[in-house]
Amino acid sequence: MVLDRTAPKVRAICCIGAGYVGGPTCSVIAQRCPHIKVTIVDVNPVRIAAWNSDTLPVFEPGLDEVVKECRGRNLFFSTDIDDAIREADLIFVSVNTPTKKSGVGAGYAADLHYVEASTRRIASVSDAPKIIVEKSTVPCRTASSMRVILEANSRPGLRFDILSNPEFLAEGTAIRDLSAPDRVLIGSLSTPEGKAAARALAAVYENWVPPEKIFTTGLWSSELSKLAANALLAQRISSINAMAAICEATGADVDEVAHACGLDARIGPKFLKASVGFGGSCFQKDILNLVYLSDSLGLPQVAAYWKQVITMNEYSKARFAQKVVQTLFSTITNKKIAVLGFAFKKDTGDTRETAAISLCKDFRSENALVSIYDPKVPEAQIWLDLTEPGVVDDGQKVKQQVTIAASAIEACKDAEAVVIATEWDEFRTLDWATVYKSMKKPAFVFDGRSIVDAAALRKIGFQVHSVGKGPEIQDPVWA
Ligand code: UDX
Ligand code: ADP
Repeated sequence: MVLDRTAPKVRAICCIGAGYVGGPTCSVIAQRCPHIKVTIVDVNPVRIAAWNSDTLPVFEPGLDEVVKECRGRNLFFSTDIDDAIREADLIFVSVNTPTKKSGVGAGYAADLHYVEASTRRIASVSDAPKIIVEKSTVPCRTASSMRVILEANSRPGLRFDILSNPEFLAEGTAIRDLSAPDRVLIGSLSTPEGKAAARALAAVYENWVPPEKIFTTGLWSSELSKLAANALLAQRISSINAMAAICEATGADVDEVAHACGLDARIGPKFLKASVGFGGSCFQKDILNLVYLSDSLGLPQVAAYWKQVITMNEYSKARFAQKVVQTLFSTITNKKIAVLGFAFKKDTGDTRETAAISLCKDFRSENALVSIYDPKVPEAQIWLDLTEPGVVDDGQKVKQQVTIAASAIEACKDAEAVVIATEWDEFRTLDWATVYKSMKKPAFVFDGRSIVDAAALRKIGFQVHSVGKGPEIQDPVWA
C-alpha cells in the first residue's frame, strides 16, 4: 500500500488492554516508531505495575529487550485510561473477548462486554476525532455495533473512523511475528474517510513492514479473515491428529506421513505436527465463534463442519489420557504420573485451553497422583487452572492429589509414567538415564508432542509411546 500524504498523521497511540496481544503488539510499534507516543492502558493495576517492573506479566522471547529499549522513551503503561484516550489520534482496542459462559450463545458466542465497555469509554471521554482499531478478535460486523455506541454516546458531530486490524501473532514467537509479519491486514469502510483512516494506520506499519505486505480489505472481510485463518490452522491440526489415531492403530508414523504430505506445495509442511491436542486462547474460541455465526446465519451444515474440528481436538486429548490408563494395566489409582509442561505450547507461560488441564483432570478422575513441572507457568496459575469451577470445585482435594515440582527431575522421581504435554526444549535434552533410575519400573514415557528420541529412551529401558506412532507391525513372512 502506498502512503498518501492526505491521510491523518498518527502522533499518539493508545492501546486499551495490556494483555498477550496489546502488550507485545504496541511495544513493537513503539520500538519501530520512535516518533509516535504509545500508551498501553488497562483496568487491571496489577498488570500495569508488572509491565512497569522488571518482571513483565507476559513471558515472550525477546519482549523484555523491546520493552527495556522503549519504556519511558515513547512507550508508557498506565491505568489512566481517559487521559491516554484523549491524547491519542489512534486507539487500538485489544481487550479480551472470551467465549460467553452464560446467556444467549453461551459456550459459543464471544463475550463482547469488554469491547463494549472500552467503546463507551472512548465515546464519553473523546473531545477530538479518533481512529479506532479493532485489534481483538471479534465476530463479523462488530465494527457496526461499535459505531452505533460511539455515535449515541459522544459529542455531536465528533468523527470516529473504525478499522479492523486483526493480529496474527502466535505466542512464543510474537516478537518475530510482529517484527516480520507475513501480512498486515487493515479493513475499512470504502468511504473516502474510511480509506484515509486505513492509510493512516498503514503509514504506522510502513515504518518497518514492506508496503507489499500491507493489505486493505472491507471491514467485514477483515473481521472474518481472522476467524477463518485460525479455523483453517486448527483444522490442519485436527486433521493430522485424526491421522495420528490411524497411525497408532496401523504402525504408520505420523511424522513421516506429515512430511510426505507437506512436500506437496499445495499442502505445505507447517501446522502438521501431531499433538495431544491444540490449546491456546484463540483456536477453540474462534471456531466456536464461527460455529455460532454460521448457526445464526441459518447455515447449520457449515456450523457442524467447523464444530467437528473442536470435537476431534477433544477426542485427541481424551484418547491420549485413555492410552495412559490402558497402558498402565488399566489402572492409575494412587500411581504417580509426572506431567512435563503445562503451558499450551513452548516458549509461553500462557495456559489458556492448554491440553495439560484436560489431561490432569482425567488423571485425577482416575485417582492418580499427579506431579506437574513447567519452566514458565507460575505455580499459582496451575492451581487456579486446576480448581477453576467446571474443572474441579474442591481445592482441598486437588492439593491431596497434585504436587507442583521445581524441576522435571523432581516431578519424575518415583513416578510410574512421564507424560510430555508441552514441547519445551529442555525435555528433549533431559538426563533421561537419571530420570529412569528414579522411576518405578516398568517406566513409561507418553510423549504427547513426539519430541524425545524414542529409540534412545528404549535403550535406557523406558517403554515409550509417542503420539501418532504405532507399535512396529512386522510383515508376515511369505516364504
Ligand atoms: C494462533 C495462531 O497461530 C495465530 O496466528 C493467531 O493470531 C492466534 O492463534 P497461538 O494460539 O498463539 O496462535 O499458537 P499456535 O502456534 O497457533 O499454536 C496453537 C496450538 O496448536 C498450540 O497448542 C500448539 O501446540 C498446537 N499446534 C500447533 C499443534 O498441535 N500442531 C501444530 O502443528 C501447530
Ligand atoms: P489477549 O490474549 O486477547 O490479549 P488478555 O486477557 O491477555 O487477552 O488481555 C486483555 C486485557 O484487557 C486484560 O489485561 C484486561 O484487564 C484488559 N481489559 C478488559 N477490559 C478492559 C477495559 N474496558 N479497559 C481497559 N482494559 C481492559
